[in-house]
Amino acid sequence: MKRCSTGLLGVVLVSGSLVFGGCSDSTGERSDGGDSREATSTTSAAEERDEQAPEVLAATPPMGWNSWNQVRCKDLNEGVVRRAADAIVEHGLDEVGYTYVVVDDCWQAYQRDARGALVSNPETFPSGMRALADYVHDKGLRFGLYLVPGSKTCAMTWDGYPAEGIGSLGHERQDAEMLEEIGVDYLKYDWCEADVNDGLERVEAFTLMRDELRRLDRPIVYSISEYGREQPWTWAPGIANLWRTTGDIAPEWLSIVDIIESQVDLADYAGPGGWNDPDMLQVGNGDMTPDEVRSHVGMWAMLAAPLMIGTDLDNLAPEVLEALANEEVVAIDQDPLGKQARRVQVGQGEPWVRTEVWARPLENGDLAVALFNKSDTPTEITTTLEEVGAPAGTWAVRDATNGEDLSPTDGRLSGTVPAHGVTILRLSAG
Ligand code: GLA
Repeated sequence: MKRCSTGLLGVVLVSGSLVFGGCSDSTGERSDGGDSREATSTTSAAEERDEQAPEVLAATPPMGWNSWNQVRCKDLNEGVVRRAADAIVEHGLDEVGYTYVVVDDCWQAYQRDARGALVSNPETFPSGMRALADYVHDKGLRFGLYLVPGSKTCAMTWDGYPAEGIGSLGHERQDAEMLEEIGVDYLKYDWCEADVNDGLERVEAFTLMRDELRRLDRPIVYSISEYGREQPWTWAPGIANLWRTTGDIAPEWLSIVDIIESQVDLADYAGPGGWNDPDMLQVGNGDMTPDEVRSHVGMWAMLAAPLMIGTDLDNLAPEVLEALANEEVVAIDQDPLGKQARRVQVGQGEPWVRTEVWARPLENGDLAVALFNKSDTPTEITTTLEEVGAPAGTWAVRDATNGEDLSPTDGRLSGTVPAHGVTILRLSAG
């Protein structure tokens, strides 16, 4: 799998040639882009190298699959992970951008080995993590793993996982080096009450692992989680590539609504390389309606949120696969400008039943606008170009949710949105 960047940050130098749209393969190593042009300048290779912009890790929000929302702890095993990787490719979701396959909590043996190394649980991961990472990489995907800074993983506390001493406290370097040996591309580093259990301090503990990751030769996306308790958006940029902004998401409409409400003031903190993480997707779990599913994915895209699927990809309802694979919606999530949406209109009523309008600018000068209806009945929502921040003029309007062109506008934008539904519009200057 090659992921290719565009724009200024995508200009890389390969063997003295300027390459537009640098690509990296599934191991995170640079490779030659297809569209290469001869450099016309006479500067030396060394000078040219100095001018390179460093590649931004997680230049757009990470996308993939994570085991937790699907199987939590007791049903996790290597077969589940391999099937997820298979299904991502079978459904073509890798082509849409879902590339990280992340093994969450409960992959570990109950104790470290005699050398103090973490090992995989021999019953559930008998082939070991290196083999699993290879399997995932061979599919053109990337591999992620879960660790914690303190002494206890969350499942030890909340899911009765009968382990001891499998936290990274005091083993940070050893565990970081293990990630490199396994071939890990993404680390989820989860707080799990390390302040209460171990007296740790967040910034210090998360920075310590960041520094260990930086020592490695391997780029590893660094995802941290302390559930938004101490406003990580104010201190995590520069430490991590993404930071959880909320407690755990549940597979219920009200949990989705509640999380969206809590993201309202966070737009300024997100951008390429550092994202607010309102937690992983729950589509496919619980009994969300098709419109709720579209709202969940659509509003996560407006929020420039990581899109981590957490459901059984072998048993997807058609509307769930359609929502996840909607390339027009995913393109908004992945827009290279990386501007998280702001709420620009709030309707009448309580937060869980009112209508809202959210908007975000996109890199090519387009705008994405979400008409979001949290009420229990279909409702007409109206906004204006001015309200969504579009300069005066005539704008083409595309309904990205439903894949339809609508009439152009030079003023009003309006649509009847289903109950618990969203219509995401993409406006392009005419
Ligand atoms: C916490 C995290 C979840 C998951 C579990 C694993 O609850 O928020 O996303 O990683 O721990 O135990």
